[in-house]
Amino acid sequence: MALSPIAILGTGAYAPNRILTNEELAQRVETSHDWIVSRTGIRERRVADPGQTTADLATEAAREALANAQITPQDVDLLILATVTPDLDMPATACLVQQKLGIPSGAACFDLNAACTGFLYALDVAWAMLSSGRYRHALVIGAERLSSVLDWEDRTTCVLFGDGAGAVVLGASRRPGSAILASRLHTVAGTAELLHIPGATFSFDPADPKRVIRMKGKEVFKLAVRAMEDVARELLEQQGVSGDQIDCIIPHQANQRIIDSIAQYLKLPLDRFFINLDRYGNTSAASIPIALHEARMQGRVQPGQLVLMVAFGAGLTYGGALVRW
Ligand code: UT7
Repeated sequence: MALSPIAILGTGAYAPNRILTNEELAQRVETSHDWIVSRTGIRERRVADPGQTTADLATEAAREALANAQITPQDVDLLILATVTPDLDMPATACLVQQKLGIPSGAACFDLNAACTGFLYALDVAWAMLSSGRYRHALVIGAERLSSVLDWEDRTTCVLFGDGAGAVVLGASRRPGSAILASRLHTVAGTAELLHIPGATFSFDPADPKRVIRMKGKEVFKLAVRAMEDVARELLEQQGVSGDQIDCIIPHQANQRIIDSIAQYLKLPLDRFFINLDRYGNTSAASIPIALHEARMQGRVQPGQLVLMVAFGAGLTYGGALVRW
């Protein structure tokens, strides 16, 4: 018997209440609201409370996604959590979320690190696992507590990132046509040093072992534009779809100028792109699922429409997914 296509059945998102404005940052480091807005588009970001963990943020987003998909935690047999800010080195933060949500013992739960492309990597893996017929419902979460890995004295990075979580539920499609249509994942070899957090036992620069984000922003910027443009073209060509046929593009929310450039290169109107980075900054793996959820809540993603998601991140990883909603 042919297996049903796999679709996104529900979405959810959560951001901590605490808003950190550009003006507040300008009191900590030598920067200004105008510089941050003109170079990035970011106006504010959310920061988790001291006691709030990545698992807490993920759990809130997942609860909403489950309710939206009208399934219960008992129905979930696969949980993949994309993050670069796990609560512990082990076990996986997914295991903590399993417990918080009451997902039954026996479910497969693991973390995945593909940095800001993490959600799209997790979506691809979950899609493949569900398509095998061995799992029924997957929770795919992107959650980050980046405020805990920022160097708050480094103005080239601390103004860019924020905390938050987004989640989707995947399962057998419930509407004719609604399905994940395609996904492509890649990594640019030899670029790991451009954007990294030193580990417990290794740092690219032994004189700088602090476990905070280090980035060569300009190099990342150029590679990011090229990568997202390439993967968007690859997906469209592979699926025989023209740019005009895409109803909504959900790009990784890192920098308004990166999104402007992709729109220009792909010759697509900017209003086709969903953008919320002005309010959240870059939330890494949480960025796309938060944006997807908000796009859906605002009616920007409607049944039957074609949605293209594209991302890039440390690695440098990049990827895209094409979905018929
Ligand atoms: O998910 C992946 C995450 N990574 C990214 O998305 C990063 C991609 N890169 C970028 O978004 C941009 O490269 C940045 C926003 C990080 C930087 O923008 P830029 O236009 O590439 O600036 P720049 O690095 O060329 O710096 C220009 C100037 C420098 O001063 P000098 O050397 O010209 O005197 C920087 O020191 O701006 C200075 N600068 C700042 N000034 C005020 C850097 N950061 C700041 C700041 N406030 N926060």
